[in-house]
Amino acid sequence: MMKAELQKAFNKQINEELYSAYLYTAMINYFELENLGGFASWVRAQTIEELAHTSKLIGYLHERGVDVKFGAIAKPTATWKNTLTAFEAIYKHECHISACINKLYGLALKLDDHAAAIFLTWFVNEQVEEEANASEIVQQLKLAKDTPGPMFMLNRELGARAIAFPAAPATE
Ligand code: FEO
Repeated sequence: MMKAELQKAFNKQINEELYSAYLYTAMINYFELENLGGFASWVRAQTIEELAHTSKLIGYLHERGVDVKFGAIAKPTATWKNTLTAFEAIYKHECHISACINKLYGLALKLDDHAAAIFLTWFVNEQVEEEANASEIVQQLKLAKDTPGPMFMLNRELGARAIAFPAAPATE
């Protein structure tokens, strides 16, 4: 049986992932209204990934016989100064999520729940990729300096991002 403290922490992470999806949904809206369909498409894929992360965590709790507790999801920021500040916000948010995951992983180890810790290694690794992806786009936007040619190219490039549906079982 998973200890109550760890159950609570898992539930908190589910809320964090749902908030991530909510924040990125707000960004879809922002980019669509800015006529940056490629950027909107990139954050749409990101939103779906966050829902997949949520589902993976919920699936694991169910496997452990844990009841999921749903709390309110905070209202996200919905507007940004420009594309660069929006992507800086994504990078900052992903760093926050990495810190949450590391804390959850640390708690699983502290409570001697090795099965949960092993499950969470997938998320630890995923966060390395999440941060790297956002950081790379921030660097590209800094180089583009909001000039039409590079922004057009970047918008087209990001629009080509495929949506990945992690179909793996919760414990993989
Ligand atoms: Fe689910 Fe982007 O972290």
